[in-house]
Amino acid sequence: MLKGKHVVLGITGSIAAYKTAGLASMLVKKGCHVHVLMTENATNFINPITFETLTGNKCLVDTFDRNFEFSVEHVALAKQADVVMIAPASANSIAKLAHGLADDMLTTTVLACRCRKIIAPAMNTNMYENPIVQDNIKICEKYGMEVIKPAVGYLACGDTGAGKMPEPAELFDYIEQEIGAQKDLEGKKILVTAGPTREAIDPVRYITNHSTGKMGYAVAKAAALRGADVTLVTGKTDTPKPRFVKLIEIQSAADMFEAAAAAEQDIIIKAAAVADYRPKSVGTEKTKKTDGDMAIELERTDDILKWLGAHRREGQFLCGFSMETQNMLENSRVKLDKKNIDMIVANNLKVEGAGFGTDTNVVTIITRERNLELEKMTKEEVADRLLDEILAVSADK
Ligand code: CTP
Repeated sequence: MLKGKHVVLGITGSIAAYKTAGLASMLVKKGCHVHVLMTENATNFINPITFETLTGNKCLVDTFDRNFEFSVEHVALAKQADVVMIAPASANSIAKLAHGLADDMLTTTVLACRCRKIIAPAMNTNMYENPIVQDNIKICEKYGMEVIKPAVGYLACGDTGAGKMPEPAELFDYIEQEIGAQKDLEGKKILVTAGPTREAIDPVRYITNHSTGKMGYAVAKAAALRGADVTLVTGKTDTPKPRFVKLIEIQSAADMFEAAAAAEQDIIIKAAAVADYRPKSVGTEKTKKTDGDMAIELERTDDILKWLGAHRREGQFLCGFSMETQNMLENSRVKLDKKNIDMIVANNLKVEGAGFGTDTNVVTIITRERNLELEKMTKEEVADRLLDEILAVSADK
């Protein structure tokens, strides 16, 4: 939860400074207390009043503010901060951070902060690639600061290359990853499968289903936020990919089987909607149109979860999803036993707000011990509840 967290945003002299206003606004909307520190140079690019209006806090600029109250405040701020992000970070400010210089309010405060510092360099490509800047970045990393790689693109100076500050949404994700949740899954390796599979009929056509991957992506994101080492095996979907996970992109059920069977993870969560059938043979040429109907002979795809249940590695926890239209609890419990898995998250497709494409879900989490019926909630909330239940069930064993 970001609510109530203290975020210190440091802004230095780079044209990208205007983008940080968007980041400040996103953080405030999530309930963070946002404190902005600017260098004198930064105030040439964006007015401190913008940040004061967005955050409701005084924007601190020079070290010796004429108002005494604020000059002691920076030490208090350093103690309060849950995370510091310097975005944009100019070459000059990176050099100061690398070498412990503290000649303005921003560097003085950052030096006094014990929390994690995240830096988003933004500058001209030649400056960014200069070995002096690169060495300073490595020094910052050596001291535990996280440095976000700048984006590549058209820069304000007219050059094209590395040096663009990432968009506010990406910077926000870094902050959320740092302070957005308790790291209660630290040290756990989790594999999540998500999205639909595609089963080729010929080089042009395929069979698939309506899965958007939203539920599986929410599980992968929540697990990563909680400190797990997450691998996401995903079929093709337009849903934005979560950051901070290792992605394996696949097409068919056979590809997904291969990735899941090789998994050595402690926890496997199969949220993918695997096509149950595939064409018996895949045409190598485009199927020619005829006047009549096209007959395709289908065969069952291998049941991945069942295979995992039968070849379970020592201590592995297996979780599947099931979509039902009737007798949800009974049918799901049968699947739990038949597939020899530990948990099944059942949703009834006939209930409003459940299933494919929606942002919400209505599920019952079924384990050997109990049925946990959840009310309608967002897929993000379902993801957290199911991870809580995995932790609770594993702790009981
Ligand atoms: N599953 C799988 N491999 C398949 C089919 C399903 O691993 N070839 C997994 C799904 O990812 C899901 C769980 O099994 O986590 C339940 O899927 P579901 O389609 O509800 O069950 P099936 O066993 O396929 O039974 P049916 O479709 O007949 O209800």
